Amino acid sequence: HACCTLTLHTHRHTQTLLCIFGTGDLGRSLGQRLLQTGYRVVYGSRRPHSCGPVPQGAQVLSHAAAAQSAKLVFICVHREHYDFLEALAPQLKGKVLVDVSNNLKKNLYPEANAEYLQRLIPGAFVVKAFNTLSAWALQNGPSDANRQVLNVAEAKQQVSDVATRLSFSVVDRGSLSAARELEDFPLQLFPEWRLPLWIATGLTASFFFYAVIVDIVYSYVTYKKDTSFRIMVSLANKVFPIVSLIMLSLCYLPGVLASFFQLYRGTKYRRFPDWLDRWMLCRKQLGLLALGFASLHVLYTLLIPIRYVFLKFISLENKTVDFETSTAWYTDSYYSMGILGFGLYVILGISSLPSVSNALSWREFNFIQSKLGYLTLFFCTFHTYLFGWNRFLRSSTYKFWVPPPYMLCLVVPTVVLLLKLLLLLPCVDRTVTRIRQGWERNEPE
Ligand code: HEM
Repeated sequence: HACCTLTLHTHRHTQTLLCIFGTGDLGRSLGQRLLQTGYRVVYGSRRPHSCGPVPQGAQVLSHAAAAQSAKLVFICVHREHYDFLEALAPQLKGKVLVDVSNNLKKNLYPEANAEYLQRLIPGAFVVKAFNTLSAWALQNGPSDANRQVLNVAEAKQQVSDVATRLSFSVVDRGSLSAARELEDFPLQLFPEWRLPLWIATGLTASFFFYAVIVDIVYSYVTYKKDTSFRIMVSLANKVFPIVSLIMLSLCYLPGVLASFFQLYRGTKYRRFPDWLDRWMLCRKQLGLLALGFASLHVLYTLLIPIRYVFLKFISLENKTVDFETSTAWYTDSYYSMGILGFGLYVILGISSLPSVSNALSWREFNFIQSKLGYLTLFFCTFHTYLFGWNRFLRSSTYKFWVPPPYMLCLVVPTVVLLLKLLLLLPCVDRTVTRIRQGWERNEPE
């Protein structure tokens, strides 16, 4: 029985004739794929006899003749050329028109391309679809999800059928008024990375500037010694881990702030302020960038032994250091904390990749991102405290009477860890858990 339905299905589709206006890259790729999946394809062209190559098996007719022969017409033409369609209104009446167009810039036109098309041919059913796919994706099959905006129920179904048959997944985005948002979609350039990248750039620039002052300028002013070579390795290896640690703590700060909001309001049913929502949504990107910076720190650190041997040879630092057990304890401890922190950092990073997180249950994901996340933050912060060791108490540490950069960078992670510790107190934890389960302090009467 199943076999029979399948053949019937295929048979029905081989009969279906679809029309494509436009023989550009997108039109040709779409046609080729439609032909491969068993549709018949007719192209509408201004010059049916000299329009260049079309996929084998497709017919080319004039616009009017092509439109008349099919129920569904893909408009693979740039918006600037839509005006010729107005003359075809009689032939396009009652047809489903699929608007696949995109613009080069946002807000180029007052209305969405699909809405413009609908205004030109009021008698047709305009459906916005396929614009999120490139010609390449169309030719090579589904490598991305397809999003559609559909208006009339029946027209929607017809376009969905074609997309499903081409093995793309269909996402219904509601009415044609959403077309504008959909047309902007392919124009976005990593929108969720924008804020994290700004934060990373800002922090790197500020800490680099600060480190140049308290390290290189200080040496020059105080000892008249040019240590500017330190910019390339020593300063980079200060700034990168510092930015990494701050960004890691910025991943966890909104979570603790959200808990305090809920505690303060006594309910989980009120929205967080917009800035907190936006901050929470870019935590993954913040974390991945932070992991990138931590990896740079690790790579630079690998260089240190080689570099010191070399520096000794050119006798810039020609002194031997006596071995001391307590020093060995402290250096080994902070190396170890750094390594443990980095190990967990990598696990956090891997588990935030969609293909991995999709394979985890919510509870598993939450365990890794929350419990292991705080542990990572703890190891990395402890690593930095141990690195400071007794220098926190030495006045020679405070060049120009200001703390060195790594002490400054400890502020945010320390605050986050202390707030988290507060939230872990049994009485606070119990209240937060009850709120998250739906309990409200001021239950409405
Ligand atoms: C400093 C090793 C991972 C944050 C250092 C230093 C070493 C080191 C040797 C001293 C650098 C110097 O003498 O200038 C390691 C090793 C790691 C590791 C072996 C793992 C394989 C991390 C991670 C973080 C981190 C994951 C957190 C983001 C810091 C910070 C400093 C530092 C903030 C102070 C930078 C400064 O002002 O000099 N680490 N680390 N480290 N590390 Fe790490």
